[in-house]
Amino acid sequence: MEQTLIIIKPSGIERGLIGQIITRFQQKGLIIAGLKMMNLDEQILRQHYAHLADRPFFPDILKSMMASPVVVICLKGKDAVSVVRTMVGATNSRKAVPGTIRGDFGMSSQENIIHASDSPENGKIETCRFFKPEEIFDYIPLTLKYIYSPDELD
Ligand code: PPS
Repeated sequence: MEQTLIIIKPSGIERGLIGQIITRFQQKGLIIAGLKMMNLDEQILRQHYAHLADRPFFPDILKSMMASPVVVICLKGKDAVSVVRTMVGATNSRKAVPGTIRGDFGMSSQENIIHASDSPENGKIETCRFFKPEEIFDYIPLTLKYIYSPDELD
């Protein structure tokens, strides 16, 4: 199964959205493989947002992401990366469609509530960035046969 890394950003923490966001992913049928609260430091953020280092808003990203603890979650599921990106919505929350997390809860590009991996490769890389191997749990929920057909689990 594919894995993807979610960060509930300080905007999601301060707005009291942790429970609602986790509920959405559970209701969808995604498996929570890892979950914890942590403070992010500049070192891990410079790695995570390295592709944005030359953007004018980069210093603001660092400040925004260190404003409070965050919640990091590793989700697993078939096509988990694209399923979760669809649920999260567009980067600019003002343009994110209603029904998505950013579309329902946000008004900003920076304070956009949540981060989600953008490719299966980055799902693996980002999970390793934020979780130790022993913090990722490989279990099969009993409900799995009601979430997927047998051929979808091959
Ligand atoms: S972009 O602009 O197309 O490269 O956008 P993207 O790769 O999807 O993500 C950009 C991340 O930077 C954060 N951020 C901003 N984006 C756009 N404009 C402004 N001003 C800005 N400030 C911060 C944005 O929240 C994206 O973070 P993640 O965690 O990837 O969602």
